[in-house]
Amino acid sequence: MKKYLIVSLLLSAIVACGDNKTEGTKETATETTNNLSSNPDYQKGLALIAKNDCLTCHKVDTKLTGPAYRDVANKYSEKDITTLAQKVIKGGQGVWGAIPMTPHPALAQADAEQMIKYILLLKK
Ligand code: HEC
Repeated sequence: MKKYLIVSLLLSAIVACGDNKTEGTKETATETTNNLSSNPDYQKGLALIAKNDCLTCHKVDTKLTGPAYRDVANKYSEKDITTLAQKVIKGGQGVWGAIPMTPHPALAQADAEQMIKYILLLKK
């Protein structure tokens, strides 16, 4: 009788652990998605990018004329925001291949930085 009790206690402990783990993972995944789309840096940057010509050459996950934004995000960090914003304004070449990025001289530095902040949030 005692043996049964111990075995069933052990079993329920194992089942309980398994449950917790699945739920934990699910919650984290949902939180990340929610945080990202409700993040003001994400929203403002995405809006600016949508208003400009960026999406004719860049997509989030696919390389077009320019590198995928996710790849850009994985290569750089916060400290590169100013430099990358300058690249968008002045144009760039030679980092991702031979094709140059056209300059965007009409963009304000602050707006370009806002776009970079959005791109960096795509880091995986
Ligand atoms: C005509 C196509 C084109 C357009 C439009 C364009 N890009 Fe690019 N972009 C490129 C190419 C090509 C590269 C890779 C340049 C290189 O290899 O240095 C690039 C690179 C980048 C990089 C990485 C720079 C680096 O040095 O690693 C960022 C960030 C970027 N683009 C953001 C933007 C933003 C924001 C816009 C809109 C304002 C934009 N791009 C519009 C083609 C484009």
